[in-house]
Amino acid sequence: MSLIKIRNVSHAFESDDGPIKVLKNLDLSVERDSLTAVVGPSGCGKSTLTRLISGLLKPDRGEIFLEGEKVVSPRSNVGMAFQNPVLLEWRTILDNIMLPLEIVAPKMPKKEKVGRAERLLSLVGLADFAGRRPSELSGGMRQRASLCRAIVHKPKVLIMDEPFGALDAFTREDLWQVLLDVKAEEPFTGLLITHDLRESIFLADQVAVLSGRPAMTQYLMDVEFSEKRNIELLFTAKSTAMLKELRKQIRIAQAS
Ligand SMILES: Nc1ncnc2c1ncn2[C@@H]1O[C@H](COP(=O)(O)OP(=O)(O)O)[C@@H](O)[C@H]1O
Ligand SMILES: [Mg+2]
Repeated sequence: MSLIKIRNVSHAFESDDGPIKVLKNLDLSVERDSLTAVVGPSGCGKSTLTRLISGLLKPDRGEIFLEGEKVVSPRSNVGMAFQNPVLLEWRTILDNIMLPLEIVAPKMPKKEKVGRAERLLSLVGLADFAGRRPSELSGGMRQRASLCRAIVHKPKVLIMDEPFGALDAFTREDLWQVLLDVKAEEPFTGLLITHDLRESIFLADQVAVLSGRPAMTQYLMDVEFSEKRNIELLFTAKSTAMLKELRKQIRIAQAS
């Protein structure tokens, strides 16, 4: 059974000029502990899809299941990470990361919460910054902290909406590696929205290309590398061929 199953989902928004059809008969499945990257033209409905999966929006038609259970309301077992991490300046980094635990596991002993947050911080290389405030961290460091916060309560699903979009190219590549390292230690099922095709094949087990609006799943690519993933893999003929195919699919999507 797929951990996330999106079945025949259609959604439209009302506007002064009538309804804007955003998604149409969209199907997508994500297997447990795998990561699916979603790419597609700007404005095609990617963020809308994340809101539907997390239960913040209800689809006009179709169904979304998490572990076979239909999503009908906002879920605390879905973690979210965004392009601009919203960290609270009046809290230390450690306290920011513990926030989801305070909400979904209020009875967990403080010591356990701290231990869990500290473990994640050291996993992403921020052990020495636990007591700092968000403004004392670089953009890349804030994004690492945001990743810790998104998974601290062990959500069933981690949804990332262009989490690395605002970072420079090298910091972004560092973060890709951090994400893979974290996922190896703390497996999660992920959905990653991105505009970066290299990022999509480097991180994902499956890449879904959405068509233009109203979006449906236009193309699915399985990504398998026989070796442990490292940046060098992106320079191989195999990667180039995958990127070429995805680029072609994006062109088709933009024309649709
Ligand atoms: N709450 C809303 N009300 C009206 N229109 C919306 C709303 N949210 C998104 N839209 C519209 O739906 C379309 C898809 O938006 P979005 O899902 O943010 O696209 P993407 O993330 O792929 O760029 C856009 O045309 C956007 O203007
Ligand atoms: Mg978006």
